[in-house]
Amino acid sequence: MRGRPLVSIVGSGRVGTACALFLMMRSLCDIRLIDVVQGLPQGEALDISHAASILGIDLEIEGSNDLGDVKGSDIVIVTAGFARKPGMTREELAIENGKIVREICERVRESAPDSIVIVVTNPVDIMTSVALKVLKFPRERVIGFSGILDSGRYRFLIAKRLGVSVRSVEAYVVGQHGERMVPLVSSSRVCAQPLARTLSRDEIDKIRERVVKAGEEIIKLKGWSASHAVGAGVSELVEDILRDKRRLENVSAMLQGEYGVRDVVAEVLAIVGRDGIVKIVEIDMDEEERRAFVEAVNWIREITSKVLSSLNIV
Ligand code: LAC
Repeated sequence: MRGRPLVSIVGSGRVGTACALFLMMRSLCDIRLIDVVQGLPQGEALDISHAASILGIDLEIEGSNDLGDVKGSDIVIVTAGFARKPGMTREELAIENGKIVREICERVRESAPDSIVIVVTNPVDIMTSVALKVLKFPRERVIGFSGILDSGRYRFLIAKRLGVSVRSVEAYVVGQHGERMVPLVSSSRVCAQPLARTLSRDEIDKIRERVVKAGEEIIKLKGWSASHAVGAGVSELVEDILRDKRRLENVSAMLQGEYGVRDVVAEVLAIVGRDGIVKIVEIDMDEEERRAFVEAVNWIREITSKVLSSLNIV
């Protein structure tokens, strides 16, 4: 029997590697990095093992080119996929990455049927639906990673503007991980005060716009997409699961009646613990937020159904 939990990360690019680094630094689990590129996961695993040695952390970190090596994992993190190329629509990207996520999930279903799967590949709301359909796991065990990144960015910008700790800001994002995300104002609080009483509407809207465009802003600046914040956020979720933290997290999850919505994956709030999603928490929204949320859900529903049918997934 394994002494430590095992987490596999499929995809050893910048995002997969950042996930591995944060998991290692938090001493959470043994780690298996898996990628099709020969040598890459092995090299990253060795480099991160050396980093662990320097930090005095004893974990097993291995690289592999075989998807079957997800076997025995408590958690599988899916990061493999293409980044959007210039001129490519989100729907085209969804079809291309859907093929990759489908192949990975077919293997996970065979080799790690009791695992919890965290989907990171974009467009994440749609990829989480693909994963759910292929895995046939209950919705509790398939979690889309998105909102921790979005609400982290939102809290960062509010805290920076007001000169307070990010820990004194409570702010969430719902909807879609993309242009249709809805950074909530009505429920946001800073130092126990409503956000709307702390900043002008104009300032709040500027911050919200920057949150929505943060992913793009990073790509423009450094030339590729965010990875460190993704690694940090994924490690939060892994900690929630392995240590049964039952924290409230911003995740993409399959709705089954919450908010009056059924059979769509959207960014929402959920308590996450040992069994994955413990409960989806319905947060209060004002009328405008609610309208924007419904718009996002409708968009995700439409594109997801096109992607699933073009991939022949029923
Ligand atoms: C972002 C990408 C990773 O929001 O989805 O930065």
